[in-house]
Amino acid sequence: MIAADARSAAHALLSWYVDAGVDEAILPTPVDRLRPAAKPAASTPSAASGGAVRSIPSAGYAPQALPPRPAAAAPRAPQAELDRPAEAARDAARAATTLEELNAAIDGFDGCGLKITATNTVFADGVAGADVMVVGEAPGADEDRQGKPFVGVSGQLLDRMLASVGLSRSETVYITNILPWRPPGNRQPTPAEIATCIPFVERHIELAAPKVLLFAGGTSAKSLMGRKEGITRLRGTWIDWPRPNLGGSIPALATYHPAYLLRSPGQKSSAWKDLLALRRRLDEVAKAT
Ligand code: URA
Repeated sequence: MIAADARSAAHALLSWYVDAGVDEAILPTPVDRLRPAAKPAASTPSAASGGAVRSIPSAGYAPQALPPRPAAAAPRAPQAELDRPAEAARDAARAATTLEELNAAIDGFDGCGLKITATNTVFADGVAGADVMVVGEAPGADEDRQGKPFVGVSGQLLDRMLASVGLSRSETVYITNILPWRPPGNRQPTPAEIATCIPFVERHIELAAPKVLLFAGGTSAKSLMGRKEGITRLRGTWIDWPRPNLGGSIPALATYHPAYLLRSPGQKSSAWKDLLALRRRLDEVAKAT
């Protein structure tokens, strides 16, 4: 009976974590919180070991060593970043004159709460300066862990889609996302999070200066095209993405997100048409230059 109660309590706790968006363990090894507490040793971890002990009040739980404290407190974000994140992001993005500077600016930006729960800032992958730039939505668990966009299953499909029209991230494509940080549990990014991060991705496109843009999925298409329609309406039509400081505009095409295609393979034929249109446009641009 007790075992069954304990099991259902553990199950309820796990469900609570999953509902809250926790879908992976933070420590590499599991912590047995049910192990009986060891008798406190005569001396607790010293400053030399850098350890701290957290006593868990209820009896029967083992004290757990915490990681050492950082030597100095992290510098606080400028107040403007906390007050007006989108404005602060725009200023930081504008000040970046190279992709490296932009990467550093995003990494140092504290105006978006997603950064707190993310493991890594996911900036870009592929060839900086390539003719094609793909903009997806946000990192997932694999991307968050590796610090690179589109490295999980949807990234593998994206690679196959690009390869079908002779493109690859190792030679001809540059890839980023609207958001550089993973939303917990892969939830939809909020409009506020998108508004905060958009200045960075706009500057990212300006600095990468691709000849053609591909917006993968509704979040990317809607927020970069400034439209309200869903991806089913937006996909397959070209727009001129205005960038006066790149000498006019960049042709941009929206298509389905590879994660959506994995769930709805019947839409792959439409995505294939989009890829062919992308290839044609790219060939035209190459001929004209
Ligand atoms: N989905 C995205 O939109 N971007 C990634 O990097 C991974 C999955």
